[in-house]
Amino acid sequence: MKTLITGASSGIGRDLARVLAEKYDTFVLVGRNLERLSGIGKELEEMGKTVYLEVLDVTNFDGLKQLAIKYPDIDLLVNNAGFGDMGPFEETSLDKELSMIDTNIKALHVLTKCYYQIMVKNNHGHILNVASIAGVMAGPLMATYYATKNYVVRLSEGLREELRRKKSKVKISILCPGPVKTGFESSANITFDFKGIDSKVVAKYTVKHLNRFYIVPDFKIRVLRFLAKIFPTKTVAKAIYSVKNKPKKN
Ligand SMILES: NC(=O)c1ccc[n+]([C@@H]2O[C@H](COP(=O)([O-])OP(=O)(O)OC[C@H]3O[C@@H](n4cnc5c(N)ncnc54)[C@H](OP(=O)(O)O)[C@@H]3O)[C@@H](O)[C@H]2O)c1
Repeated sequence: MKTLITGASSGIGRDLARVLAEKYDTFVLVGRNLERLSGIGKELEEMGKTVYLEVLDVTNFDGLKQLAIKYPDIDLLVNNAGFGDMGPFEETSLDKELSMIDTNIKALHVLTKCYYQIMVKNNHGHILNVASIAGVMAGPLMATYYATKNYVVRLSEGLREELRRKKSKVKISILCPGPVKTGFESSANITFDFKGIDSKVVAKYTVKHLNRFYIVPDFKIRVLRFLAKIFPTKTVAKAIYSVKNKPKKN
């Protein structure tokens, strides 16, 4: 069984690779940082796995299309690479936001498209899209990031129904964590409002519940998802703004 994981060089992607090693024997690991990618690659090889390292910026969309040609026989695609940014919209960097849209939305879209087509044709395969709890609500002060994750959730929900209608054996899942202790905080210029969980816990929960569509690895976040469903969007946005705008304790 073969899996391709983007953003495998750190955080959730790296821990997913470690936990997936219980079930998968071949790994295609994608990321920009060769040193960190080699680190996890070596770990997996020591466990007897076959590993292919692909040093690639996922915003190179032609590079992504080439990946799907080079590795067409993927059983599990994990679209994980992504990042955020925090701040009032008039102050945040447009260039960073465009790069975020390219990474969180377009790159995920390209890989989903390429592998969805192959998987549907073969009636086999699974796509795991790493969204966020941010994907089920509006996020003032992180508006672009939340919007990108809403795209991931909505795209995946649409594809789930298409697959169901054609009685396909292809599966799709979305991972919706809340705060997780990874490199995310520093790349997004934030300090989490409440304690993030360990990325190992997220990875273990995800692999255990891979047969689900929504994978939400923390009880508090499951409650939050429920509240986001029952309260009006405006009320949820007000609450998110208040939490994000709270002065930080030192
Ligand atoms: N941590 C959280 O609180 C949290 C919560 C919900 C959802 N998520 C989502 O979880 C996913 C993983 O994030 P993380 O928390 O594990 O953060 P992380 O430790 O910063 O990992 C991000 C990964 O994405 C890769 N990446 C980013 N931009 C890339 C690009 N242009 N090309 C190739 N790889 C790229 C990085 O690889 P290189 O540095 O090697 O390029 C790195 O492996 C993201 O989609 C994030 O939005 C995180």
